[in-house]
Amino acid sequence: MKAILADQQGTTLEREQHQNNTKKLYLESYGCQMNFSDSEIVASIMNKEGYNTTDSLKEADLVLVNTCSIRDKAEQTVRKRLEKFNAVKEDNPKMKVGVLGCMAERLKSKFLEEEKIVDLVVGPDAYKDLPKLVKEVEDGRNAVNVILSKEETYGDVQPVRLQSNGVSAFVSITRGCDNMCTFCVVPFTRGRERSRDPRSIINEVSDLADKGYKEITLLGQNVDSYLWYGGGLKKDFRKASEMQKATAVGFSGLLDMVAKAQPRMRIRFSTSNPQDMTLDVIRTMAKHKNICNYIHLPVQSGSDRILKKMNRLHTRQEYMELIDNIRSIIPECGISQDMIAGFPSETEEDHQDTLTLMEYVKYDFGFMFAYSERPGTVAGKKMQDDVPQEVKKRRLQEIIALQREHSHYRTKSHLGNTEEVLIEKTSKKSDEHWAGRNSQNTMVVFPKQNYQVGDLVNVKIKDCTTATLIGDAIEKAE
Ligand code: SAH
Ligand code: F3S
Repeated sequence: MKAILADQQGTTLEREQHQNNTKKLYLESYGCQMNFSDSEIVASIMNKEGYNTTDSLKEADLVLVNTCSIRDKAEQTVRKRLEKFNAVKEDNPKMKVGVLGCMAERLKSKFLEEEKIVDLVVGPDAYKDLPKLVKEVEDGRNAVNVILSKEETYGDVQPVRLQSNGVSAFVSITRGCDNMCTFCVVPFTRGRERSRDPRSIINEVSDLADKGYKEITLLGQNVDSYLWYGGGLKKDFRKASEMQKATAVGFSGLLDMVAKAQPRMRIRFSTSNPQDMTLDVIRTMAKHKNICNYIHLPVQSGSDRILKKMNRLHTRQEYMELIDNIRSIIPECGISQDMIAGFPSETEEDHQDTLTLMEYVKYDFGFMFAYSERPGTVAGKKMQDDVPQEVKKRRLQEIIALQREHSHYRTKSHLGNTEEVLIEKTSKKSDEHWAGRNSQNTMVVFPKQNYQVGDLVNVKIKDCTTATLIGDAIEKAE
């Protein structure tokens, strides 16, 4: 998880700015890709209200911070930023500050009471209400809307691409989550799971293709449970008519439609959930050359006992079988994980199960966290956060160290290959090198020569570090 979108060096920022707009919006985003995608919806809505985005906090009329609640640390980071905004506001009392996203939803009007600097609190399903709420704030009142919706997908809002390199974009396909993993705050902050109309997804992807984008990532908390049957709310599917059931589109169907509609667009998706991922999805990936060979497949723990307490609805064995199936259908597939160290009651034996599962899979990379108790979740309410901090830390370090070994094992396996890389930006380490990702989502750097951002090039891999491949471009892949 990154705190702030990485600096896109060497690329031009594509940013829709209306000339007649006079007001300035400073928008900062934290947390998951979905939040960054939501901020693009917010920018679009505010753009129509006379606001252009700005990078300068000092000149902002309105500051909006799209927040994350996933771990306590994420919330502390936002609180520090609010202090900073408060300091700037002292010099510019007309500036208004709003909190959006998961923290807004979790803390609701408490924000207005506790954090005196906040004028506006808006939850993830209420962004269309922003123009009205901002007006209320301009009239001198505080404003809150944290109502969660069962329908809102923002399918009709054309996002303004923020901080974009003009090459890759996120496209949301579902909102919310019905899974109720016991550690996770998302079902509470983002509400029930609903899917977006496939036609609006295809339209957005086609529009991105027209604008020159080369890669999209379909986004959802659990993309595999995507289901459109004329209605969007997953839990109401049982009530759908026979006709609706017969013509329903699941995730593999959606992937197939998107891949066919834009055969030159590279397609990625995130996040997959092991309990819902079907063989059809893997076969659809194998069928289309433009769907990348990469699956982010969080497991959280390798211990059956802990998986059960987490309410992850699969066993270690089932997960390993899924991995076997992925590898037999797409042998070169990149696979990454999310892992939590120190979930309540986790023993050394459970921890060892996590390490041996990692040995089995040898993930390409991963996102690893120490368990952080979240108020309101089942684990928060019913389980003792009983693994001592130093034990959590030590286990996390062991997981990270093992992942590093496996990442290196994986990057080394690419040596000598020639691989297709989509150029995204200038390498962070050298102005003379491009950086882009191969199909498996591993970063590849190579001398720029005469290639450009957005080119798909064949790169011969000569060297590697634990996380990065190093090579030479041979020719354009198109
Ligand atoms: N399905 C989501 C998961 C969102 S949360 C997705 O699209 O990625 C991302 C990751 O944060 C989870 O997979 C989990 O590993 C981690 N996480 C969630 N809640 C946590 C908690 N309370 N403590 C530590 N890590 C947590
Ligand atoms: Fe959270 Fe589990 Fe959903 S991790 S986002 S409740 S799949």
